Amino acid sequence: MKMVCGKFYFLLFVIFCLSLNNVEGKLSSNYYASTCPNALDIVKEGVKDAIRKEARVGASILRLHFHDCFVNGCDGSILLDDTPNFKSEKTAAPNNNSARGFEVVDNIKAQLEKACPGVVSCADILAIIARDAVVRYGGPTWKVRLGRRDSLTANRSAANAFIPQPSFDVSNLTSSFAAVGLSFKDMVVLSGGHTVGLARCATFRTHIHNDTDINTAFANYLKKKCPLTGNTNVLEPLDYQTKYTFDVKYYQNLLVKKGLLHSDQTLYNTDKKSESHVKRYAMDQCKFFKDFAKSMIRMGNIKPLTRSNGEIRRNCRKPN
Ligand code: HEM
Ligand SMILES: *[C@@H]1O[C@H](CO)[C@@H](O)[C@H](O)[C@H]1NC(C)=O
Ligand SMILES: *[C@@H]1O[C@H](CO)[C@@H](O)[C@H](O)[C@H]1NC(C)=O
Ligand SMILES: *[C@@H]1O[C@H](CO)[C@@H](O)[C@H](O)[C@H]1NC(C)=O
Ligand SMILES: *[C@@H]1O[C@H](CO)[C@@H](O)[C@H](O)[C@H]1NC(C)=O
Repeated sequence: MKMVCGKFYFLLFVIFCLSLNNVEGKLSSNYYASTCPNALDIVKEGVKDAIRKEARVGASILRLHFHDCFVNGCDGSILLDDTPNFKSEKTAAPNNNSARGFEVVDNIKAQLEKACPGVVSCADILAIIARDAVVRYGGPTWKVRLGRRDSLTANRSAANAFIPQPSFDVSNLTSSFAAVGLSFKDMVVLSGGHTVGLARCATFRTHIHNDTDINTAFANYLKKKCPLTGNTNVLEPLDYQTKYTFDVKYYQNLLVKKGLLHSDQTLYNTDKKSESHVKRYAMDQCKFFKDFAKSMIRMGNIKPLTRSNGEIRRNCRKPN
């Protein structure tokens, strides 16, 4: 009898562990409903104010979430400054003099700390502001999954290794997304994030001077702004038609060889599978919006820290 009870309790223990395992890695959209009921409203207002002050900053914070998630998961690691123990991801090649919008996160975090101290993670703030920015620009909305915790550390070499580069072609982009568990379709549809925001001359110089898959008049116009040398930080819209509207013009530009980055135009160049997605999105905004929302949720699910892993940072720039 004792034996049976022992087995019974062991079985209960196993079931308990399995259920914990289930919870692990699972985020939920109502995570802060009781612990910080105003969290979503506070963030939404913060994003609205920030974009009202500077139209571009919504694009910048959308990109922050992407650059966070691709480096050891969506854990707020991109927000950490240098410490004696590690080099920040902010100074990795894809981010240095490029990643921006950190003050928006700081402001929103400060308000959340006032409303509900120690509750809302920096990683979750990034996921919410990315969605709210897309909505402000006229894009789709989705229910943001929440419950991520914040990393204790950052890894600059991982940022260099995992964030895709503008020189990448379809196969490089595919492997880069596959490395974080995202699909080919995720890659094509999330690239549509380039319907908003700006890029520096340094990132498109080679494409406009050396690539052949670019409209001649478009290339000539850009070469004046971004000559063979110099002008490294001169900015041009990723979507030359509507730089702060979330729409399908990014894909329409690719059809006529007016993508700004090599990594954009490569999606409509020679790869048949990629081309069919691009064509579809270019003419079907509903489809693009639906798929973009789905893929943003998938990106937001990359390796979150949950349960007792990580912490809720009080200041997004440093571990507690
Ligand atoms: C597919 C691989 C990708 C590559 C190679 C890439 C590369 C780049 C580059 C080079 C820039 C310009 C940076 C600068 O000049 O400082 C940029 C900007 C941007 N990227 Fe990406 N990106 C990719 C995917 C994504 C994804 C998945 C998103 C979001 C869903 C995204 C959102 C943005 C936004 C919004 C900007 C403009 C930021 C601003 O104006 O501050 N990108 N990207
Ligand atoms: C980042 O950019 C600054 C200013 O251009 C430069 O001085 C610094 O060396 C760069 N950091 C890294 C790690 O490349
Ligand atoms: C940082 O990332 C690099 C590249 O992915 C990896 O080799 C290294 O082990 C990581 N460092 C730490 C401390 O995790
Ligand atoms: C891109 O992919 C090609 C093969 O398709 C490979 O030879 C090359 O090393 C890759 N480049 C980068 C930067 O990963
Ligand atoms: C264009 O290609 C040539 C030859 O490969 C190279 O020397 C040059 O640096 C490239 N120019 C740009 C702007 O990337």
